[in-house]
Amino acid sequence: MATPIHFYLNDQEVHSDAPPGLLVLDFLRRRARLTGTKEGCKEGDCGACAVLVGTLLNDAVHYKAVTSCLMPLGELHGKHLVTVEGLNLPDLTPVQDQIVIQGGSQCGFCTPGIVVSLSGMLLEKGPAIERADIKTALSGHLCRCTGYASLLRAGEGIIQAAQKLPRSSDGKSRVEAMIDQGMLPAYFQEMPAKLKALTAGRPAPGDGKIQTGLPIAGGTDLYVQQGEAIPGQSVAILNLHPEMLGIRRDGNEIRVGALTTFEEFAANAQIQKALPEIRQYMHWIASLQIRNRATLGGNIVNASPIGDMTILLLALNTRLTLKDGTKTRSLPLKDFYQGYKQLAKRKAEIVSEIVFPVPAANMRINYEKVSKRKCLDISSVTSAARITHRERTIVNIDLSLGGVAPVPLYLQQTGAFLTGREITSATLAAALAVLQEEIAPISDIRGSAAYKRLLARQLILAHFTKLFPEYLSVREVLGAVGFVNT
Ligand SMILES: Cc1cc2nc3c(=O)[nH]c(=O)nc-3n(C[C@H](O)[C@H](O)[C@H](O)COP(=O)(O)OP(=O)(O)OC[C@H]3O[C@@H](n4cnc5c(N)ncnc54)[C@H](O)[C@@H]3O)c2cc1C
Ligand code: FES
Ligand code: FES
Repeated sequence: MATPIHFYLNDQEVHSDAPPGLLVLDFLRRRARLTGTKEGCKEGDCGACAVLVGTLLNDAVHYKAVTSCLMPLGELHGKHLVTVEGLNLPDLTPVQDQIVIQGGSQCGFCTPGIVVSLSGMLLEKGPAIERADIKTALSGHLCRCTGYASLLRAGEGIIQAAQKLPRSSDGKSRVEAMIDQGMLPAYFQEMPAKLKALTAGRPAPGDGKIQTGLPIAGGTDLYVQQGEAIPGQSVAILNLHPEMLGIRRDGNEIRVGALTTFEEFAANAQIQKALPEIRQYMHWIASLQIRNRATLGGNIVNASPIGDMTILLLALNTRLTLKDGTKTRSLPLKDFYQGYKQLAKRKAEIVSEIVFPVPAANMRINYEKVSKRKCLDISSVTSAARITHRERTIVNIDLSLGGVAPVPLYLQQTGAFLTGREITSATLAAALAVLQEEIAPISDIRGSAAYKRLLARQLILAHFTKLFPEYLSVREVLGAVGFVNT
């Protein structure tokens, strides 16, 4: 029998011996009979299944909106799971009220998920909530009948209501104020103490050791690929291991726990210093609800040739720490991929840490992505560049390209060609010939091989025209490669 999982579901304490790999969505609808959480796509695309998951940190509970259709139940140990039922009060909350007033619901299938995500954003941002946050919260939701204009108008009303909340970002006082303003049920106030008491004397399943079985991190690839087969398997819930979380600077390196989610990565001050455009990149990558779950380690081990974070990390000269029990070893990320989904990793090894050098002052970094839709879509081709320069000379260059080979590709030959050369349009034209020899795209639903070759060329050029506008103009570069007449 599985080790029991102890958590709070809304205001109720739950001790469940259901399989740890069972989907939270299936637990809610089939076992707890809470059917406000809807099942739509079951692939993370529609947001109908959104719930809030609260984690106790420094005496306050921090809530994040996630898709319950891709989350294993076992990860809820010691946490607070909030469904739309758990947000209800005798009167409508301001979030619910605004959706009604603005006509933001028709058939209502998408509405519970939207209420959950907007309430989560209000909890996280309080009076600092802005129009862009409303859009971000709505980004993971599909509404087939009403459309989004009325929801955006509802968002304006929510921003107004939020102005009554205190500025303090301390989670505890925000919760108290939201309870006073009729935005949250009163039981939220007791959750920090209740979660503390719940976990006291009840260690997480596995008792601190990584269990044997299928490793699950965010589950956002695994459940889409293997779905219904997972609850019957033995699983290792990696998120029960907080030692694989956190981001810290260690001398000239940045060390990132493999369980760090895309959102945690982008929100971190060290990362924002190293990659000032990181928040912009996030607009092109999945939805908030997926980014709150998707981990860097999962992106790397999933080994998709178009994994966005993997491509970015490849150009940052990243090393992986691989762990098997007490044994650890370090491996360059570019040596991790040996063929399509073939990894330089033993089955029992876990990626525990992702390490890359702090960018130096004479380095410039850029990331580019092209997909069929600008946002919320898997890449057709994606690329990153880290260029160390001395004035016009390329001292060192790391280039990566996704979608043009069976693996996330580190461009060894193109980089070697460019090293030591001057940044000129003639250099780039010659480098592009090397590039075309180095890549081998295939035609698939994301584009023909010829289209991907064109994209590869354009993205490499984009790195240089964005990073070195003082030396190159777009027009001059396109002229040199024969795209326009100069
Ligand atoms: C709707 C949707 C949109 C998406 N959009 C994007 C996108 O825009 N860009 C993008 O790159 N990806 C996207 N993805 C894919 C996915 O979110 C990412 O690849 C994510 O990083 C996977 O991480 P995870 O933690 O969820 O991995 P999981 O699904 O938990 O695991 C993936 C694989 O890695 C293994 N694993 C996980 N962590 C470790 C570890 N630390 N050590 C050893 N093995 C491990 C698992 O066993 C499994 O084989 C999207 C997915 C969905 C559902
Ligand atoms: S059911 Fe569609 S995102 Fe979960
Ligand atoms: S109201 Fe019908 S799907 Fe949104």
